[in-house]
Amino acid sequence: MPTEPTHYCEGQAQLVLGSGFFRPESRPSRDLGVLLLRWLTAQRDEQGGAAVLDGMAGCGIRALRYGREGGADEVWANDADPQRLPLLEANLAPLGLRSGALHCSASTIEKLLASCVLQERRFDLVDLDGFGAPIPFLPLAVEAVRFGGILYLASSDGRSFTGHDRTAALRRLGAAARAQPCSWELALRLQLGLIARVAWGMGRGIRPLLSFSEGRTFRCAVQVLRHPAAAEERLLGLQAYCHRCGSHRGTSMLQLKDLERCGCGAQTVLSGPLWRGPLQEVDVLGQLQVIAAGIDPTSTTRPSLKLLQRLAADDGLPPEASAVADLARQLGGGPPPLALLLQQLRLRGWRAQASGIAPAQFRSDAPWDEVVREGAKAR
Ligand SMILES: C[S@@+](CC[C@H](N)C(=O)[O-])C[C@H]1O[C@@H](n2cnc3c(N)ncnc32)[C@H](O)[C@@H]1O
Ligand SMILES: [Zn+2]
Repeated sequence: MPTEPTHYCEGQAQLVLGSGFFRPESRPSRDLGVLLLRWLTAQRDEQGGAAVLDGMAGCGIRALRYGREGGADEVWANDADPQRLPLLEANLAPLGLRSGALHCSASTIEKLLASCVLQERRFDLVDLDGFGAPIPFLPLAVEAVRFGGILYLASSDGRSFTGHDRTAALRRLGAAARAQPCSWELALRLQLGLIARVAWGMGRGIRPLLSFSEGRTFRCAVQVLRHPAAAEERLLGLQAYCHRCGSHRGTSMLQLKDLERCGCGAQTVLSGPLWRGPLQEVDVLGQLQVIAAGIDPTSTTRPSLKLLQRLAADDGLPPEASAVADLARQLGGGPPPLALLLQQLRLRGWRAQASGIAPAQFRSDAPWDEVVREGAKAR
């Protein structure tokens, strides 16, 4: 006898997952998407909902949550796999949106975005949670976001973005990517660098709101602005890493200077062009925490709240992170307690904070020699 499909519940969404790809572990990215949408609509004076495109929707859980919990009043859920369409339609029907406000489709995202752009249909939030790198359709995706709206992108192409496949990185990103310990941050900055170049080429600006990874998927949410901010182009640059002493340095493409040789005399490896601006808009993350506290507590899980807290404590500046393991290697023996090292650097007047992106990493504007000296004292 056929069994009833079982329901899966997340936040206020109840749906059938079907047999396609779904990861319960990606929940923090979905929780944060809901909060971002609520933040976006709260920014506007006028009352009203928002139009959301969930372009690689799988079972439609994001689209459903944007409608149920994020306040979207127009929802488009699309997945290229036509076998998912009946499931998408069934899962999203309970949203009960007004006629014409719910669309479910089975196009490739490239075709769907192109047709939206032709029809001048734009969205307040475009969420593209696909496989691989979101590169072939990036200009169309930027174009499909209303000014001030949010593009929420995922890449699971860890090998090229972290420099483990350098030729693929060059093909996909038009950038050099060199393997190094702070590889999650490298991947996020390369992705943001590409988004910035695409947006600038179209006359737009970007404002990264949040960026994070658990080492498998690299996620960025950026606000697409009508124009670049003053001197935004300064934020595209290169980064050098020295395998011998562990130091990282960087420079803007507008002020290229010699990065090829480290202060220790060794040859460095260079990555970029990449984004050297903030990775998080910490004020916005503070507001997301307030929103999370004011809505149904089932919407935001504890790991999502912890992630928000961690990201809010590190804006991503200065843009070069360092690995505690590299410092320990320089010092010989074990690493210094990170909190103590950061405190000492701050007492000496330097910026210093733990990385919100990856564990056992930190960032400081102190020269590497000074970090090593303070590291020795902190042990
Ligand atoms: C990572 S899964 C989506 C998971 C879903 N967003 C979630 O949170 O559970 C990626 C989806 O993208 C779809 N997909 C892959 N390539 C696509 C394309 N070019 N256009 C649209 N959808 C695509 C796949 O069928 C798959 O369902
Ligand atoms: Zn060196």
